[in-house]
Amino acid sequence: MSQLLVVGSLVVDTVAKVERLPRPGETVFVTSREQFLGGKGANQAVAAARMGAKVDFIGALCAGDFESEYEALFAKEGISSVGVMRLSEGSTGNASIWVGPDGLNMIAVDPGANMQLTGDWVRSHQGDHPLVLAQLETSDEALLALSCDKLILNPAPMRVVPPGLLERTWLITPNETETSQLTGIEPNTPGACESAALALAAYGISQVVITLGAKGVYHWDGLSGHHEPAPLVDAVDTTAAGDVFNGALAALIGSGLEVREALPQAVAFASLSTTKLGALASIPFRDELLP
Ligand code: RIB
Repeated sequence: MSQLLVVGSLVVDTVAKVERLPRPGETVFVTSREQFLGGKGANQAVAAARMGAKVDFIGALCAGDFESEYEALFAKEGISSVGVMRLSEGSTGNASIWVGPDGLNMIAVDPGANMQLTGDWVRSHQGDHPLVLAQLETSDEALLALSCDKLILNPAPMRVVPPGLLERTWLITPNETETSQLTGIEPNTPGACESAALALAAYGISQVVITLGAKGVYHWDGLSGHHEPAPLVDAVDTTAAGDVFNGALAALIGSGLEVREALPQAVAFASLSTTKLGALASIPFRDELLP
């Protein structure tokens, strides 16, 4: 069983299915609405646990604001939550998510307590995990306090990256939008993917995995590029597919696989998650993957 530390966000999602995604200035009708626990950090931690990793989690929420729900979730998933910082003021993160009929989504997130996670809290709770998975939905000081052999950074949601973080990253996993925001290159051909990967490698990043939605992922390992296609599925909701991929990939790497060896299973895990509504609610279990 692999050991993994996830440092990331806790965000309560209100998911509305809409007849179609609105254009700016347009009002559309909601066809159904549900609330789920989510947050990129929690989603990735659960995906890693369901892929077989032993996961420790560091994050922040507001005491009494979905605190017991997250505690119950972590207990059920076998994730250690001793690293969850409880704030006495403010609010736990929350997000509004709209899902269109084709499963594509729009998300606006209010990070709340996630941006109050302190560097001191991270330093005193991170232990000596060699492998850490983090995103950008948490504070700069928390991210810059990380100390490990291999940092996997999912640069989502895209924002100004704390100075020095890319230089400490071992593996980065941007999606298409994040890749073009980070490098100025649209990863729309194999050549463009390679150019973008080289631009990221210039920060000293060893492994670059660009996620391409239904097209799969592109991997650059410093020597060669590789395209891993995604299986064809009937997507209902793509929310958190990137999180499921990241959690699964980190778990598989933690169990000893090389990045490229881990890609087929991680991609298949993420594809499976798009066949159900919700973020956390859509994360599969490892035995659903294997025949
Ligand atoms: O990646 C999906 C997640 O992003 C949602 O669960 C929402 O909380 C936002 O943080």
